[in-house]
Amino acid sequence: MTTLADPAQADRTLSARLKQETHAIHDALDNRISALSPFLDRAHYARFLRVQLRFQTATAPLYERDDLQQRFPGLLERSRVDLIEADCRDLGIAEADIEADRTAGRAVAIEDGDAVIGWLYTNEGSNLGAAFLFKRARKELDLSADFGARHLAGHPDGRGLHWKRFKAQLDELGLNDAQQDQAVRGARAAFAFVRESVEAVMAGGLACEW
Ligand code: HEM
Repeated sequence: MTTLADPAQADRTLSARLKQETHAIHDALDNRISALSPFLDRAHYARFLRVQLRFQTATAPLYERDDLQQRFPGLLERSRVDLIEADCRDLGIAEADIEADRTAGRAVAIEDGDAVIGWLYTNEGSNLGAAFLFKRARKELDLSADFGARHLAGHPDGRGLHWKRFKAQLDELGLNDAQQDQAVRGARAAFAFVRESVEAVMAGGLACEW
């Protein structure tokens, strides 16, 4: 007789673990951002952009690392730091604010070892979820892939396919349980950093010109 494994335990691939073990923190972040009405008007959206600038700046050095480029072919082309900077300029965010966000992003201490894999996961996954945000930015704020919402746009090959390729790369790394634990810790740290940035920038922790 065959016994069916507990479905919650069945999929121990790295991508499945990352998704399951960040589910609650993602949900809380998503609810928090939504409650701060990023699409109410362009001023609210500009604050959301500043959060994204912090996150993209924090993760940008990972995309440039040779060892990570070898483990994730095509990694450098996935970086969205240039797109978010252009979005911030499109929206007229003050240079002083851009510089402050860059400084905050660079100040993040990312744990070394396989935690960096989790930071990449959180950033790449955020582009998958961005489909919905992109639609709202276009509809409600008249922004586009060429103005103001560049970093939310999908990849020309298709957002889903682009994500599938990254997930396959994650699962082909062959991490053991302890290494996977470290990656999950990194993913959770990335979500925590974004949450902290939301509180600082969108919820009024910092003075904002808008
Ligand atoms: C209001 C804000 C957000 C909403 C509404 C949202 C929504 C979503 C949705 C609907 C998906 C699933 C997409 C799909 O399966 O086709 C998703 C995936 C994801 N999002 Fe978000 N998201 C938000 C913000 C964020 C932020 C700020 C981050 C990270 C910094 C993030 C990280 C992720 C990750 C890692 C995934 C991939 C989950 C997986 O399949 O492994 N999201 N998001």
